[in-house]
Amino acid sequence: MSTGPTAEVRPAKRSEVADILDVEAQAARSLPDAARLAAAIDDDGRLVVVASAHGTSGAGSLLGWGKTHFWDHDDGAAPEGHYLGGVTVRPEHRRGGIGTALTQARLDWIWQRAPEAWYVVNASNVASIELHRRWGFVEVARASSFHTTTFDGGVGILMRARRSGPLP
Ligand SMILES: CC(C)(COP(=O)(O)OP(=O)(O)OC[C@H]1O[C@@H](n2cnc3c(N)ncnc32)[C@H](O)[C@@H]1OP(=O)(O)O)[C@@H](O)C(=O)NCCC(=O)NCCS
Repeated sequence: MSTGPTAEVRPAKRSEVADILDVEAQAARSLPDAARLAAAIDDDGRLVVVASAHGTSGAGSLLGWGKTHFWDHDDGAAPEGHYLGGVTVRPEHRRGGIGTALTQARLDWIWQRAPEAWYVVNASNVASIELHRRWGFVEVARASSFHTTTFDGGVGILMRARRSGPLP
């Protein structure tokens, strides 16, 4: 999938774990565990995607990334199913459609496997809530944690969107 002239979205490669961690560091996000991230890239039951600048490679070429996560059990209001498991875009490349493209790619992947997609978000994260609005995500529940995710400030929202139309 292309996001326009500057970036393309594609599955992550195992060799890009360090570059993904660099995106998180640049965005001042807490760093995922490298081994667990590598395992997610290798796992056919999850999707890790990256947005890379056209015609570039190596350190600093990734503009953003995102992943899905599959929960195989319910946790209160949060059911088993495919979740959008986080998306980050380098601060200097935001508001250019990269977050949208990373999310569309993950939702296309989920829609091929399930009629519903889920995500959890900090209630104060306006950018994320606004980003996901176009796919019709609706609030299902609020809590201090869903599965293993807790929220700075204490309140998270569980969101659900339903596949519409034919399979992508
Ligand atoms: C959320 C995030 C991934 C969005 O990435 P992005 O590349 O800027 O997103 P897009 O350019 O595709 O934005 C699509 C729409 O989302 C909404 N949006 C994005 N950032 C926003 C902001 N800061 N405030 C309000 N709305 C915002 C807008 O509706 C935007 O459309 P517009 O630019 O035409 O107004 C990015 O801000 C980020 O990395 N944040 C830190 C990590 C994070 O919070 N991830 C989500 C965890 S659930």
